[in-house]
Amino acid sequence: SVTIPPPPSMLRPLQAPFRYLFGPGPSNVPPRVLAAGGRPIIGHLHPEMYEIMNDIKKGIQYAFQTQNHMTLAMSGSGHAAMECAVFNIVEPGESVLVAINGIWGERVAEIADRMGAKVHTMVKSPGERFSNEEIEQALAKHKPVLFFLTHGESSAGLAHPVDGIGDLCLKHNCLFLVDSVASLGAAPLFMDQQKIDILYTGSQKALNAPPGTAPISFNDRACEKMFNRKSKPVSYMLDMSHLSNYWGNDGKPARMYHHTGPVSGFFALRESLAILAEKGLERSWQQHREVAEYLWKGLEDLGLKLFIKDKDLRLPSVTTIAIPEGYDWREMLAYIMKHHQMEMTGGLGPSIGMVMRVGLMGYNCNKPNADMALNALADALKHCRKSKA
Ligand code: GLV
Repeated sequence: SVTIPPPPSMLRPLQAPFRYLFGPGPSNVPPRVLAAGGRPIIGHLHPEMYEIMNDIKKGIQYAFQTQNHMTLAMSGSGHAAMECAVFNIVEPGESVLVAINGIWGERVAEIADRMGAKVHTMVKSPGERFSNEEIEQALAKHKPVLFFLTHGESSAGLAHPVDGIGDLCLKHNCLFLVDSVASLGAAPLFMDQQKIDILYTGSQKALNAPPGTAPISFNDRACEKMFNRKSKPVSYMLDMSHLSNYWGNDGKPARMYHHTGPVSGFFALRESLAILAEKGLERSWQQHREVAEYLWKGLEDLGLKLFIKDKDLRLPSVTTIAIPEGYDWREMLAYIMKHHQMEMTGGLGPSIGMVMRVGLMGYNCNKPNADMALNALADALKHCRKSKA
């Protein structure tokens, strides 16, 4: 018999307030993408769904600037793509090199360690960049099969330069894996031209789709290693031999059941990629740059200091502000949430206590929103100053 009664909270309506999502993501989802996600569900193995998945593939190829056939979206967040890349490329005991200058490198190092890789790290303070010479020295020393770098370091607000690194990886017989979760669509990135072997992003940042899907692409060099391994990847769910079949990428006539993909999430992702295709990458990059410059100037006019000094290295999607002296960042962020219904966040991982973060991405990226964010910060600066003891 039923001994546990229906919980009273389940008998109340869902509460999900409107928030201005001006942090590092998720960002606000435009009505068109929300509407796409609200369409009636179809089966994950219906032919119409395959068409939608084919469209998504084309949309990702455009957004990544790649012709890679092995392009798809993960059923999961950016972390699923991160694990998919590491689990499929690396076999236990192989050497992996990870550049750590914020949280994402830390995560990849941990993931690679958990699956039994020999992990080597290059570590710098959050927001610092690695020179190509430093990277080449480490490649020569550790002879990794995979080198990881974050392009959009959202915890630090850094857009790391990528040029030339793909060539170094090729020369040292290593695959180049890049995280563009926070930068895709906001800052220029050219997967094929920059010789990135594996690239992934997330749905919830400049693409403005709900969290829960993650585009990823592997080039032929990556496929060569991934599909000729001796051991099976540790994850069944993330095994690319299954996922490539599910996405119709393996040349087999039939797609077999592997897992049930997030149908509504794929509808929404398709719509967000369509919006990017209609707008054009160049326009999107320019819009992020212009609005970021406007925000940076406004922040400096408020007397705030930007955490990344070199303008050319600043991520246009997520801006990091050094914590102003005489303020408690938690109190400022709580004030802004309470009085402006606006999310901004503190640091993440190694940047906690160093920065506050403001993200204006995709649909959110315009000057009126930058003004709203600046107004909220000005208000918090007025109300949250600590009195001197
Ligand atoms: C998460 O993606 C973050 O940067 O906070």
